[in-house]
Amino acid sequence: MIKILIADDRPTTRYMLKKNLCEWGYDVVEATDGTEAWKLLQIEPFPRIAILDWMMPGIDGVEICKKLQKDKSLPFIYTILLTSKKEREDLVYALENGAHNFQSKPFSPAELRSHLNVAKRLVEADDQLKKYAAQMEQLAEIRARQLIHADRLATLGTLAAGITHEISSPITYVAANTELASNHWRKIRIFLKELLSGNPDQSNNILKSMDKIEKALDRISNGSYRIIKIVRGISSFSRKESAQKEQLNIHDCINVALQLCQNQLKYNIIVKKNYASDIPLIWGNPHQLEQVFVNLISNAAHAMSQFKQGKLMISSEVSTNEVHVRIVDTGPGISDDVINDIWDPFFTTKPEEKGTGLGLSICKEIITRHGGHLWVKNIPDKGACFTVSLSLNEIVYNNSK
Ligand SMILES: Nc1ncnc2c1ncn2[C@@H]1O[C@H](COP(=O)(O)OP(=O)(O)OP(=O)(O)O)[C@@H](O)[C@H]1O
Ligand SMILES: [Mg+2]
Repeated sequence: MIKILIADDRPTTRYMLKKNLCEWGYDVVEATDGTEAWKLLQIEPFPRIAILDWMMPGIDGVEICKKLQKDKSLPFIYTILLTSKKEREDLVYALENGAHNFQSKPFSPAELRSHLNVAKRLVEADDQLKKYAAQMEQLAEIRARQLIHADRLATLGTLAAGITHEISSPITYVAANTELASNHWRKIRIFLKELLSGNPDQSNNILKSMDKIEKALDRISNGSYRIIKIVRGISSFSRKESAQKEQLNIHDCINVALQLCQNQLKYNIIVKKNYASDIPLIWGNPHQLEQVFVNLISNAAHAMSQFKQGKLMISSEVSTNEVHVRIVDTGPGISDDVINDIWDPFFTTKPEEKGTGLGLSICKEIITRHGGHLWVKNIPDKGACFTVSLSLNEIVYNNSK
């Protein structure tokens, strides 16, 4: 309900105005002079329409309009001056000083009512505009924050790409040479054993040292392969150039991934496929999509590795605009505590030598670059269900990334 202030020193005018305004459904407050009117205009909820006598004790009607124009802390208040003045110069003076409308005395209820309808429309439009402006401001702030974030990510991506490029060759060199040293060491070990067979005291000490060297070489080798895996992961995560796209059958990508994961699946896991028949071809990069499915399948295999028997169900489905692939396992599922963290780079619950925590962040990045979605939910009494959705629209592949 809109609140209206009536300010007039004559009780009969106030009475008549109030009677009509209350009948028309307005909430009315009254002031007997300009000073009281100005006070009432400062009280929340603010009056949004003020019917002000031009000539009244204290502050006159036009002065109040002037003050309202200057005071930025108040909302928009529509002012109607009650006056018997008819001279053009007077009316111009009042309008120039902030009055919005006039009502001549004695007032006609029909005329006043239509003035109030205009006032109501303007007040509501002003409120709507302010609300819209506030929403726009909020949106602009969110967008600005997103842009800063995207910019930081892009900088990080470039930085990561540079670092991984620099690390890539020396670490490959370290890994290859550790392997070479290990192979030679195994041969030397055989010779040394033979040479030492006649001297048991010496041989014990030397054999112990040989074991230590072998373990150290194994650790160097594991560590360097882990670094290689991380470097590859980061570089595919931060890669800026576009991968070649082609029309492909998503089932082919899944089948290649299953083949690559054979070793992880063969002991305790039954694979059930339920592929949609006549699946449409989609646009994408087959190697990247295979990489996604390898990550998802090996995560599922790892989740079920603690069980004697596990089941991996891979199904596909076509909706109007998308192809959906679901990968469901019978592992323990993902606990609520970490379900939102699993997409973060380097988040892993696996021991250091088993996981880098880059798998899902890479999968998400690849699927996003394909204009698709990847998400997970737990299936009660089953395990985790990862869904990949890819668009059937032709131009979905984001080449600019
Ligand atoms: N199918 C699944 N069931 C249960 N937990 C899962 C499953 N898939 C992923 N997770 C959880 O999400 C975490 C992050 O997975 P992500 O693939 O990113 O890294 P990772 O498998 O730990 O390491 P890697 O970089 O070698 O893939 C896993 O450590 C695991 O806790
Ligand atoms: Mg993984």
